[in-house]
Amino acid sequence: MKNSFIGRSFLTLRDFSPEEIKYLLTIAKKAKIDAKKGKNLRRFEGKSLALLFEKRSTRTRCAFETAFGEEGGHPVFLSTQDIQLGGKESLEDTARVLGRMFSAIQFRGFKQETAEILSKYSGVPVYNGLTDLFHPTQALADIFTMQESFGNVAGRTLCYTGDGRNNVARSLMIICSKLGVNFTVITPPELNPDDELRQICAPLAKASGAVITVTADIASVKNADALYTDVWISMGEEDKRDERVRLLSPYQVNQTLMDKTGNPDCIFLHCLPAVKGEEVTADVIDGPQSKAWDQAENRKWTIKAVMLATLCKGN
Ligand code: CP
Ligand code: NVA
Repeated sequence: MKNSFIGRSFLTLRDFSPEEIKYLLTIAKKAKIDAKKGKNLRRFEGKSLALLFEKRSTRTRCAFETAFGEEGGHPVFLSTQDIQLGGKESLEDTARVLGRMFSAIQFRGFKQETAEILSKYSGVPVYNGLTDLFHPTQALADIFTMQESFGNVAGRTLCYTGDGRNNVARSLMIICSKLGVNFTVITPPELNPDDELRQICAPLAKASGAVITVTADIASVKNADALYTDVWISMGEEDKRDERVRLLSPYQVNQTLMDKTGNPDCIFLHCLPAVKGEEVTADVIDGPQSKAWDQAENRKWTIKAVMLATLCKGN
């Protein structure tokens, strides 16, 4: 397994087997332990990372920059204000040039296709730091955080309530299907995950034993081990605010909903940033059941794992 990742991009969790995903989680755990012990292994020394951002970011940018820089790598932040990205110069040409100068590229933006083109033409690993379709490094950190609470996650139940068709919900559906985690999407029918994704996940879930459910019934939080929500309005969808508030207000995570799980050990998860008072109330996200802050920190260790696996022989 160790060197089978070298040179690969991380664009969607679809491209990685359950064993490969588990391997990344193992590297992340070790990276976190090593860092807490103060070990600095300088594994990215002599390497450089281009950080391309079309959309804003706090956690993803900081996780990539600190994880890479602290071990001697050189991260370079490039927003669309700074570089050509399908503007004056074609995306393919930008990719070719970046591939000559950088060891790897992180892309956060709108189209999944942009990440795919960057990967195809740069010849170096490209990491998807969020697109309209997927947020794979987030889902990795989410499962890592569940592992910290529960140990083995297979057979556990993760309920996601909110916008069921967004990048976070979609990546969670894939990773849960692969790892045998029961995944319940609780969302109004207008925001159901699309059929294509559900068809992709069905055989994966069958193989792992995961039960994937899509429902509008908020009472389906019953017996959840983890309750997850995300913003009602994702980046780039700001014009949908009125509609989303109308559709999603009944799906807010508040203490009453946490209690409806019937599980006092149920944890609360949120990818952040959170709009307190909309998708989640402050008492829940800042309360004792919340793992949102561990989850944010875990972005760093899981992102480091992806970079170690794809850039460093023997990791
Ligand atoms: N969760 C997440 O991706 O956060 P940022 O948008 O701050 O990177
Ligand atoms: N669904 C959100 C996730 C932010 C990390 C968005 O795309 O804005």
